[in-house]
Amino acid sequence: MFSTKICCIGAGYVGGPTMAMIANKCSDVRVEVVDINAERIAAWNSDQLPVYEPGLDEIVAQARGINLFFSTDVESAIREADIIFVSVNTPTKTYGLGANRAADLRFVESVARSIAEHAGGPKIIVEKSTIPVRTAEAIKSILETSGSGHAHQVLSNPEFLAEGTAVADLENPDRILIGGETTPEGQAAIERLANVYGEWVPQERIIRTNLWSSELAKLVANAFLAQRISSINSISALCEATEADVDEVANAIGTDSRIGPKFLKASVGFGGSCFQKDVLNLVYLCGHFGLPEVAEYWESVITMNQWQKRRFADAVVQAFFNTVSNKRLAVLGFAFKKDTNDTRETPAIDVCKRLLEEQASLAIYDPKVETDKIFRDLDANDDDERLIVCASAQEAVQGANAILVITEWDEFKDLDFETLFESMVKPAWVFDGRNLLDHDKLRAIGFKVRAIGKPCE
Ligand SMILES: NC(=O)c1ccc[n+]([C@@H]2O[C@H](COP(=O)([O-])OP(=O)(O)OC[C@H]3O[C@@H](n4cnc5c(N)ncnc54)[C@H](O)[C@@H]3O)[C@@H](O)[C@H]2O)c1
Repeated sequence: MFSTKICCIGAGYVGGPTMAMIANKCSDVRVEVVDINAERIAAWNSDQLPVYEPGLDEIVAQARGINLFFSTDVESAIREADIIFVSVNTPTKTYGLGANRAADLRFVESVARSIAEHAGGPKIIVEKSTIPVRTAEAIKSILETSGSGHAHQVLSNPEFLAEGTAVADLENPDRILIGGETTPEGQAAIERLANVYGEWVPQERIIRTNLWSSELAKLVANAFLAQRISSINSISALCEATEADVDEVANAIGTDSRIGPKFLKASVGFGGSCFQKDVLNLVYLCGHFGLPEVAEYWESVITMNQWQKRRFADAVVQAFFNTVSNKRLAVLGFAFKKDTNDTRETPAIDVCKRLLEEQASLAIYDPKVETDKIFRDLDANDDDERLIVCASAQEAVQGANAILVITEWDEFKDLDFETLFESMVKPAWVFDGRNLLDHDKLRAIGFKVRAIGKPCE
């Protein structure tokens, strides 16, 4: 009864939401999402999904058990599928050749081996994971050397969703990019995948390219986005030194249609699982292809981000005359951005670790991040007296010397700052790492305020 069977290997932040959207939009497609992590699969089959995204619960509930399934049976899902998406993690390699730069492809490689072993017929294999250029070649060579001679097609179809807005991005993508071989078989595979997306995405938004352009375009897109943040963050430091206001500068340049207004918000720094890893991956590729100047150019995007996080933590220490020892600091937000429970590479980790090194006491509150994740991310134990995770912003702020806004959760804008001020040790500080709050209002209440790229008053 189904026209196409899709399997997606990897039920993470990308695999889960992407497949839920395909299942919702294509009622004649059967979608099975598989993962080796049984706990994650159990969560996808429960009311407590492992990924928090606005609107995700609804689209999973609509399709689950009808044409959307979550399971740990990777082998039979591979065998049954016509199209296999590979959506496993591709972290930065931490060892050996290319350590701290190159992508660690061991998960992709192990999936390629499983496909070779269990396919039982020709498949269309879709790289959804972000990977270095020419990975498709590596996948093909694994399939050819260890497979049983089936003529598989490998496509590149990178995902451009942003966490926090994943469902909206998937529903209405700027573009779908599909790269494939230029052979008739490759072109036919591209069209088969384009037909799936064509159920809800206008054809003119489906871009067809060769494999290598598609793989590279994903890395370059993330590098350009990260570069915009590092660029405006570099200017935020200059604003603080000159009494210019970074939001006014961003607004003034963003109205230039050649520059545009998006991704010009100065902050404590970018985080997330992708920007740093993908820029480092690009840096590694440039080095590998003998282009050290290009590698250095892109590496500076990361250097600026590290500096911005450190600068924020140092500003807190300096405000307390270089000692935060035993000061209680209320950290509002731990996720790397609002509307997600993802903490991978969140600036909160660097900021908190630096302040813990300075012997501060931290009281952390995040609306969606689980307590154990925070302890794990900070390499801390439950019995660490200098770290507590609170159930509300009010609890975190009670008795604190300062409030640090690390994530731009909407609920922080609506806090009752008059009451919070009363409950704090004076002088009471706010360090706004997202320029989220109304600073004039806070000053009128009596707070001392420091924000990113704003004149220090
Ligand atoms: N998170 C994002 O915002 C985002 C956006 C676009 C692209 N990407 C890319 O998508 C890919 C996946 O990212 P993510 O955030 O979903 O990662 P994730 O870590 O949330 O999920 C990956 C999943 O793959 C599973 N896995 C690993 N090896 C496996 C195997 N051999 N068999 C079955 N399952 C296996 C893991 O258990 C994990 O659940 C990465 O390459 C990432 O760069 C991520």
